[in-house]
Amino acid sequence: MKKALITGISGQDGSYLAEYLLDLGYSVHGIIRRASVAENQSSRIDHIHDDIHTYYGDLTDENSLHKIISKVQPDEIYNIGAMSHVGVSFDTPAFALKANTLGPLGILESMKEIVPSAKYYQASSSEMFGNQVDSDGFQRLTTPMIPVSPYGCSKLAAFNLTNIYRDSYNLHCCNGILFNHESPRRGTTFVTNKVVKGAVEIKRGLRSDIQLGNLDSYRDWGHSYDYVRAIHKITSYNQARNWIVSTGESKSVRDLCSIVFDKLGINYQDYVKYNPQYARPNELNFLQGDSAETKEILDWQPTYTFDSMIDEMIEYWLQNISQ
Ligand code: GDD
Repeated sequence: MKKALITGISGQDGSYLAEYLLDLGYSVHGIIRRASVAENQSSRIDHIHDDIHTYYGDLTDENSLHKIISKVQPDEIYNIGAMSHVGVSFDTPAFALKANTLGPLGILESMKEIVPSAKYYQASSSEMFGNQVDSDGFQRLTTPMIPVSPYGCSKLAAFNLTNIYRDSYNLHCCNGILFNHESPRRGTTFVTNKVVKGAVEIKRGLRSDIQLGNLDSYRDWGHSYDYVRAIHKITSYNQARNWIVSTGESKSVRDLCSIVFDKLGINYQDYVKYNPQYARPNELNFLQGDSAETKEILDWQPTYTFDSMIDEMIEYWLQNISQ
């Protein structure tokens, strides 16, 4: 039985990955941070609580990572945990770098010493590209990476460290450059679930508006479940290397609002209000990933479309918000 260690197991991607690996017969171990409201921390993994092993640790506490890796002796390490909010990274840039750069560095150092034959997956991000786009309108592995946020900067440093540990110490280290990925489990401070939840509340008469920042940025939005399937394929592939995971379709935040409100039979222009509090000091304007190689070599295909993903998210909130 293979042992997988997942940082960020209580998050959106970590919880889908844990379920997926359990189904494949893995022994699943995960690191969780202490939270004062324990229910908030564990809600995404309560249903698999008895099947997984969890340990208190923190990406900013190198000793805790070292101890857990020694104890678990994992065959595969998935570093999915992060300070994942781009907007918040402008407010807490040092924390973003500690969690997202020094965290993976600590894991790589421990892995080199304790389990050098383990496979390491680093959750890299399309935010690393910043505003660089190839002339055909796509980002790919060869596109320059010039981040425009502290978050993007922290992820780019971790991306490079992952490459350096692979090339210098012959460790099996892979980067998956994932474009945005959503689901009903997405935190509601990210724009998709903020819009879907807010629109359902408006439909139910529970609120009068949704306040957003920039509506004119474009994102390539896929589904987290599909992306964790790609993460496993990336890590299992015989050659350690980097990959792009995306749908190849881009929509604006405005398109998102229009589609979600239309599905509920209301007009977003009547309810979506601009609030500068949600605008960022610097914006990444356009993301659209070319994942042709990932689809071909890893035989990966998304099972959700943008439409079916939004339908699932709307359905979730219709079920979970009372009249
Ligand atoms: N969160 C948020 N809240 N975003 C808003 C809002 C708002 O009220 N109003 C407009 N937006 C815009 C943001 O400015 C951004 O252009 C876009 O909506 C998407 O924002 P997020 O959903 O927060 O995602 P992100 O693209 O910044 O980052 C996500 O994707 C990255 C991959 O590119 C995160 O999941 C990152 O962790 C991930 O690496």
